[in-house]
Amino acid sequence: MSKVHDIAAIARRFQIDGQFFGAKPFGSGHINDSYCVTFHQAGEPVRYMLQRINQSIFKNPVAVMENIQRVTSHLAAKVSGEPDCNRLVLTLISARDEKVWHLDADGNFWRAYRFIEKARTYDSVESAKQAFQAAKAFGRFQKLLVDLPSPRLHDTIADFHHTPKRFAALEQALDLDVARRTIKAKPEIDFAFARKSIADVLLDADLPERITHNDSKLNNVMLDDVTGEGICVVDLDTVMSGLALYDFGDLVRTTTSSAREDERDLSKVTMQFSMFEALVRGYLDSAGSFLTKAERQHLVLSGKLITFEQGIRFLTDYLAGDPYYKVHRDEHNLDRCRTQFALLESIEQQEERMDRLLRSIE
Ligand SMILES: Nc1ncnc2c1ncn2[C@@H]1O[C@H](COP(=O)(O)OP(=O)(O)O)[C@@H](O)[C@H]1O
Ligand SMILES: [Mg+2]
Repeated sequence: MSKVHDIAAIARRFQIDGQFFGAKPFGSGHINDSYCVTFHQAGEPVRYMLQRINQSIFKNPVAVMENIQRVTSHLAAKVSGEPDCNRLVLTLISARDEKVWHLDADGNFWRAYRFIEKARTYDSVESAKQAFQAAKAFGRFQKLLVDLPSPRLHDTIADFHHTPKRFAALEQALDLDVARRTIKAKPEIDFAFARKSIADVLLDADLPERITHNDSKLNNVMLDDVTGEGICVVDLDTVMSGLALYDFGDLVRTTTSSAREDERDLSKVTMQFSMFEALVRGYLDSAGSFLTKAERQHLVLSGKLITFEQGIRFLTDYLAGDPYYKVHRDEHNLDRCRTQFALLESIEQQEERMDRLLRSIE
């Protein structure tokens, strides 16, 4: 399956001065192949991030790159003049043919970014300060893109957060029962059906369409090594039009529980209120100036919704015989579904307190 790519030759196809010096695989992301490549420029090593787009997920890489180019140019214009502005936004390096991607002989799409130095991402949250900074960075990202000129960005993955359609996919998987697993997952199926009404709530709330990141996890925000500030949001493949709350909801899902996504000991899966509070405060610090009243009122619900949605996606994949998410053990997708549902239950138990917090901030 995996192939050795000639990274030096690919890197040289981009407008990078100097001598290629070396490359190494980088990061713990699951989607793209990322390499840190070093060139010597006037005797100094300068690093770049080279990435191969995952074409099994992104069927239209040109549309992905057009979205990223428009978004990064807009962000760059907005932050220009700020101190250290090069580290506040991803900067694409054009290929020698002036496109912002390079298509290799095997049909792979590559892109290159300036490397953001003296900052890093974290796979799991270590402090409330990190949660605050991550949420603030995503809120800022959305805020700076509120006035992105038309046309609408490409929908690179259709109906990404359309929860009713995700629920319909679950119902279809149940009907087909191709892997004959419905009996085994009976409690989880019942759990999902008991909450079916959550699926429509955000879509029915008459919320404005905005530019959203759609993969708003902690490990997609670079935190400054010295100050800990969230300086730059990365991983822009899924940037699209959508609801601002999708990003906030996904932050709640991915940042408030310290347990792994496939943790089997469900007693470890809880929504940590201190992390939720940090997320709310960080997000409102930057996004508070543009969010409507209705958006603010649905912040808690968005965490529930996105956690529910991810749970039903894992459940659907389990019932369909694991076609989408890679599994490393029996019932891996069922375990993942259970952690999402355990987190959702923990949110439900603390919902009143979460609502009270929001009312106290308004
Ligand atoms: N321009 C960049 N400079 C420095 N590090 C980066 C840059 N872009 C991404 N990274 C790092 O590489 C990791 C993987 O990149 P990412 O774009 O998130 O790919 P994936 O889709 O596989 O998650 C990120 O979590 C981040 O740590
Ligand atoms: Mg990533």
